[in-house]
Parts: sequence; C-alpha cells; structure tokens
Amino acid sequence: MSKRSLRDLPPQALDGKRALVRVDFNVPLKDGRVADETRIKAALPTIEYLRDTGARVVLLSHLGRPTGPDPTLSLRQITRDLERLLGTPVEFIPDPATGAAVTRRLPRGGVALVENTRFWPGEEANDPKLAATFATLGDFYVNDAFGSAHRAHASTEAVAHLLKPAVAGFLMERELRYLGDALDKPRRPFVAVLGGAKISGKIDVIQALLPRVDEILVGGAMASTFFLAIGFGVGGSLVERDKEDIAKTVMAKAGAKLILPRGAVVAPSLERAAERREVTSDRIPANCAVFDIDETTRLDFRARIVQAKTIFWNGPMGVFETPPFDAGTRAIAEAMVEAGKRGAVTVVGGGDSAAAVAGFEDKLTHVSTGGGAALEFLEGKPLPGVVALEDG
Ligand code: 3PG
Repeated sequence: MSKRSLRDLPPQALDGKRALVRVDFNVPLKDGRVADETRIKAALPTIEYLRDTGARVVLLSHLGRPTGPDPTLSLRQITRDLERLLGTPVEFIPDPATGAAVTRRLPRGGVALVENTRFWPGEEANDPKLAATFATLGDFYVNDAFGSAHRAHASTEAVAHLLKPAVAGFLMERELRYLGDALDKPRRPFVAVLGGAKISGKIDVIQALLPRVDEILVGGAMASTFFLAIGFGVGGSLVERDKEDIAKTVMAKAGAKLILPRGAVVAPSLERAAERREVTSDRIPANCAVFDIDETTRLDFRARIVQAKTIFWNGPMGVFETPPFDAGTRAIAEAMVEAGKRGAVTVVGGGDSAAAVAGFEDKLTHVSTGGGAALEFLEGKPLPGVVALEDG
C-alpha cells in the first residue's frame, strides 16, 4: 500500500500554506507535564520540515478517552513541553470552530495546537461536519498519527476526504515501511518474539505472522496459557483458561516454528521476589506463579535472535516493571541490539514493548509509536487513517 507522502509535495508549494497535521500526542501526563515525550519527539521531523518550508503548522491530536470537555485531558497542558522541544512559541486554539482566524495570523513557520479532538462528540463518530470544521484550519492535510490510524475518526479519516492534498507525514511513512514492507519481504531468518499478558489480544497477530516467520518465540504470561494447553501445571500464574483450545490450535498449526520457554522464574508473589527461583516449564510449583523467563530460555532466545536477519518483537517476557523480573525482557532488548550490530533489521511493536526498550531506541532499526495500530496493521487489517490518504 503506497501512499502519497509529504516528500512528494514540492517544498516551494508549501511556503505560506497552512498544514493541518494530525499527530498522536496521546502521551502520559504527570503533574501537568509530559511524562514520556517519545510520541512528540517522533513527530518532530514532520513538524520541523514543514516549518523549514515556510508552512504554518496547525497540530491536531486526541489525548486520553474523555467523554466531553475535561480540563485534566486538555492539550493546553502539553504546550510548554512542546514549545521547549520545538524551540518556538505554540499558539493554543481552544475551539476549532473559531480557530481559522488564528491559523491565518500565524507567521510562516509558526505553530498552533488545537484542543483535544475528543472534546467534540463528532470526533469518534467520524462526523463530516466536525471534519469540515477541522478542514477550515488548514490548506492541506498531513497525517503523522500512526498510533491513531486504526481509528476512523473525524480528525484521522473524514477530514482526509475534505482537505487535499491529504498525505502521510514522515513518521507515518516510516511506520508503514518498517511494519509493512520490512516484515512482508523480510530478510531471513525472520524471527518474531511475542510476549505480554494475553494470548487473546495477540492471537490474530500470531496467525498473521506464522506463514511469514521462520520462528516465533513466545514469552510473558501468554506462554503459561500454552503450558496449560500442553498439560503442565501453571500454579498461580496469570493464564487465560478459556483460551486453552486456541493455544492448542496455534501449536498444531505452528509446529516447530513455535518456541516456548524452557523454564521460568517463579515466586510465591511479586512482593516475595527474594524467594524467586528458576524451574523448568514442566515443574512450575502449585504455590508459585511465573514472573519471567529463566536464564536457559534467555540464552536460547538470544541465540535464535542474534542469528536472525529480521526480528520483530512485541510484548514483554515477564513483569518488567518490577525488577528483578525485568531480566528476561532486558535480555531480549540486548539480543536485538546485538543482532542489529550484525546487520539485522530490528523492529519493536508499540505499547508495552516500546516502554520495555526505553534507552535502547537508538540502537534498534525502528520502535513503533503505535500500540493497537501496530497490532492491527500486522494482522493485515486496513487502517482507516491510512486508507483515507491519497495513493502514491
Ligand atoms: C494509542 O495510544 O494507542 C492511540 O493514541 C489510540 O488511543 P485510543 O486507544 O484511545 O484510541
């Protein structure tokens, strides 16, 4: 799926024009400041390019899941951090219906930020009327919000039909390249590493990846559901008992491609980490739960990852937020960095996995800014925010 991109528009044609840019600034806040700037920084190349061409940049985003106007979810709170990252003042537009005049007054290279799109009911309804209001704020449309591209909302979908050209920004382009082409036509061996709590959220991804990969390495709580399907005891581990049949079906389909952990780090509870020990996967004690992959599995997974030429990773291997149960997840990040040094393409899916590789981003080929969007894209589902853009 090739989409027209910002780089396809002649820069001189953008000079003085108002670029309406949908970004995904759905960022975590703490005490009224941005707690994780990753998504904002990821959008900077598009914003800076537009400013350099002399465009007036009008940014649109949602924040959280408000049911109406909610001061705790106002995007006004991020303007200070945005100004610091951009090195320029940011004009705040509290209401898109009255914002057009402000956008026209912006200097060339100036930046404005519109209030949380989800404060208006038409946003999630993909209402053409709200989209028409958004469209008054720009002369052309750029979608750089890969993280929101699986939502057919007024600011991601309907507006792209009203404001032309409607093109992909640099982040969107990059996400589609690395989650799309790089994994569709992988250099082999192609190894996928999947973790996280639930099989249910990942089942379609596993099914979609199976025919494409050489191996799928499974860790995290998800692995325990597979253990259950094999007939191993799982103690008090987090499992989805109703997904046992699905796990069996996946195992039958995957055959030797599916690599499960050989052993686990177990403990009576997260709080009693001092009592943790390593056991083989068929010896999980009844009074313990699995909190990480064990050392043998770390070495096994590492060996498979470092010899691969394409690696895709989504989902932590254990309770990585609670050391010492972060060791398995860290080992995967380090193995990916090592594979990258040996020339492999290393791609990390968003959400939890992006948090798990914090600090390693620069040493990986691509860390997606999309959680749900990345998974849906990998499952082969069309992303409405992408489909609505002009074909390249
Ligand atoms: C995300 O954080 O995954 C995106 O910003 C989409 O947010 P949503 O799940 O609330 O639509």
